Amino acid sequence: RLLIIDFGSQVTQLIARRLRELNVYCEIHPYQNITMDFVRDMAPKAVIFSGGPDSVTREGSPRVPQEIFEYGVPILGICYGQQMMMQQLGGQVDSGHGTAEFGRAYVTPSVKSLPLLAGWFSDDADREQVWMSHGDHVSEIAPGFKVYGTSPNAPYAITADVSRNFYAVQFHPEVHHTPNGAKLYENFVRQAGFSGDWTMGLYREQAIAAIRDQVGDKKVICGLSGGVDSSVTAVLLHEAIGDQLTCVFVDHGLLRKGEADEVVSMFRDNYNMQFIHADEQDLFLGELDGQSDPETKRKIIGKLFIDVFQKHANSIEGAEFLAQGTLYPDVIESVSFSGGPSVTIKSHHNVGGLPEKMGLKLVEPLRELFKDEVRALGRELGLPASFIGRHPFPGPGLAIRCPGEITREKLEILREADAVYIDQIRKHGLYDDIWQAFVAILPVRTVGVMGDGRTYDFACALRAVTSVDGMTADYYPFSHEFLGETATRIINEIKGINRVTYDITSKPPGTIEWE
Ligand code: XMP
Repeated sequence: RLLIIDFGSQVTQLIARRLRELNVYCEIHPYQNITMDFVRDMAPKAVIFSGGPDSVTREGSPRVPQEIFEYGVPILGICYGQQMMMQQLGGQVDSGHGTAEFGRAYVTPSVKSLPLLAGWFSDDADREQVWMSHGDHVSEIAPGFKVYGTSPNAPYAITADVSRNFYAVQFHPEVHHTPNGAKLYENFVRQAGFSGDWTMGLYREQAIAAIRDQVGDKKVICGLSGGVDSSVTAVLLHEAIGDQLTCVFVDHGLLRKGEADEVVSMFRDNYNMQFIHADEQDLFLGELDGQSDPETKRKIIGKLFIDVFQKHANSIEGAEFLAQGTLYPDVIESVSFSGGPSVTIKSHHNVGGLPEKMGLKLVEPLRELFKDEVRALGRELGLPASFIGRHPFPGPGLAIRCPGEITREKLEILREADAVYIDQIRKHGLYDDIWQAFVAILPVRTVGVMGDGRTYDFACALRAVTSVDGMTADYYPFSHEFLGETATRIINEIKGINRVTYDITSKPPGTIEWE
């Protein structure tokens, strides 16, 4: 195993991700927990020091136990980790002096023979793009170190003490903007003797052991929406603790066609889980009656969701834990957008605030994973592909695809139209190329002619976007044939719609959902 010591960089998890891609098992631990006893217990084969926001020149800034440098395993220091390493080993770090570097930079090799750099600098290029983000810089390298690469503002961009297998880089090899960064990690782990035989199957075993360890014989409740994250969380927990887990599925009446049945039959009947199907359609639709302001709708749904969840969770005696499918991007988002660990963007969806209110402790087994890794874990757990590959579906459901007042009639029309649209997308083999696709029913009726008669029905908009993370998106370039065929099917098959439009707005300036 490999130990990553975290000094608080926003991208520490990306280091772990790069290592998992190399099939190397690693654990991230905050620097505050690192003692030599901890290190000896864990017995890592290599150690990485992450970046971090502090300044090595500040009195009291984070350090590692000095003996770690005598422990005899390869060490890689990144950014703050590099500077700390230099200072602890007898070099010098300075602040400022106009040598800060943020963003793209180019590193030129001084010597190409360093094993860490093997295959990194392509033969025909004499420099390599990297991503820098530092205010301080190393002004004097530690005894035993040599320079292997420089950038205009970082004369010690890559240094190493080959005899001790210590490597230090000023830039961030783990980020996307260091295009060949993965190669450095690969060289580092090979250097450290990792064969790369760790798999998602092992992750599953380790995650199950960790859940059992955390939960003991106590009970856990889990809000299950049927989305990928909560489904994988539920199945993993069920495998770990069986009937100590109860899932609560809140049906707010804003689900897609057939969705409630699918979730109930998958988890209650197929997996045989302790399962509460909270059918609260009347409550939600009643409270939403007459409301048309998007934020008001969202707030009503969010509040009711928590009330309902709490009511059902209270009925489970002795529950001490709440399981959530929080992913790593949620963790980053909550830290970078709100300055603290509280998730505001998806609060109702992730039943935020509940753990404190109910005195529950959190179980978050996906906290270190990215979406595609959660899908891989889901496959490993044997979840059907239809659940794993699902497009994201927002917590407020169809409410935010029904601008204006929400009525049962409109919801019914929307459900049917959405089902036809998704069926078309699947039939044309496009589902997996699209991040998210859905129909929005518009709050206008338009005039049409069908047969010999006049119609006066709703218009709808089709939406389909490509995206990597939902933060930015572009509309999907369907062929005109596809759009024409789909419009015809919707108008012919769905009573209540007589006009179909295609939404070609990107995000920004639009958002993916209509509200
Ligand atoms: P927007 O519409 O903001 O959506 O571009 C970005 C992504 O987030 C989903 N979304 C939500 N998910 N609760 C959720 O769990 C919400 O309140 C919510 N609002 C939007 C949306 O479907 C898209 O994937």
